[in-house]
Amino acid sequence: MTDNYIPEVPFVPTPENVVRKMLQLAELKPKEKLVDLGAGDGRVLIIGATEFKAMPCIGVEIRSELVKTIKEKIKKMNLDGYVEIIQGNMYEYPLTDADVVTLYLLTSVNEKLKPKLERELKAGARVVTHDFEMPGWMPYKVEEIYDSGRTHKIYVYKMPPTKKSLFYK
Ligand SMILES: C[S@@+](CC[C@H](N)C(=O)[O-])C[C@H]1O[C@@H](n2cnc3c(N)ncnc32)[C@H](O)[C@@H]1O
Repeated sequence: MTDNYIPEVPFVPTPENVVRKMLQLAELKPKEKLVDLGAGDGRVLIIGATEFKAMPCIGVEIRSELVKTIKEKIKKMNLDGYVEIIQGNMYEYPLTDADVVTLYLLTSVNEKLKPKLERELKAGARVVTHDFEMPGWMPYKVEEIYDSGRTHKIYVYKMPPTKKSLFYK
């Protein structure tokens, strides 16, 4: 099914030091559940599991060749049970127990995901986006990091205690 779907976002990896900075800014803690929607080659999940001890680290990726790459990495690095990759459409993965969600998509795609995030994420969950903000939400941290020849922008959002408008600019 997913092989016939034309993804809205190409695979462009986040440089590893930018991933580290994103997870630091999101204050990812040991045993928290990390979800990367559009997981690419799985680097966010692997850094989350090996350096931050997050567990489980779940990726949703639509491209089968990338899913295969991640599965190979999980096996090679003995990360079975810590990192899991789901081949599928990120709009369908339930987020109710996620602690940190990472996104490197596009502003238009973030906008499409926004109602799902607002509906499903628990209070205190963090959403961290690379380069593209979540339209309308107020980030509680914004940082820039220079890596691989350019400046990367990181936005961190925290789900408010009530699903009212606290969040909006
Ligand atoms: C810009 S890459 C980011 C990869 C990784 N998160 C990172 O930061 O290195 C976006 C990824 O989202 C995937 N993608 C796009 N649309 C998707 C969808 N609807 N469901 C799941 N994955 C999707 C693409 O195949 C691509 O690998």
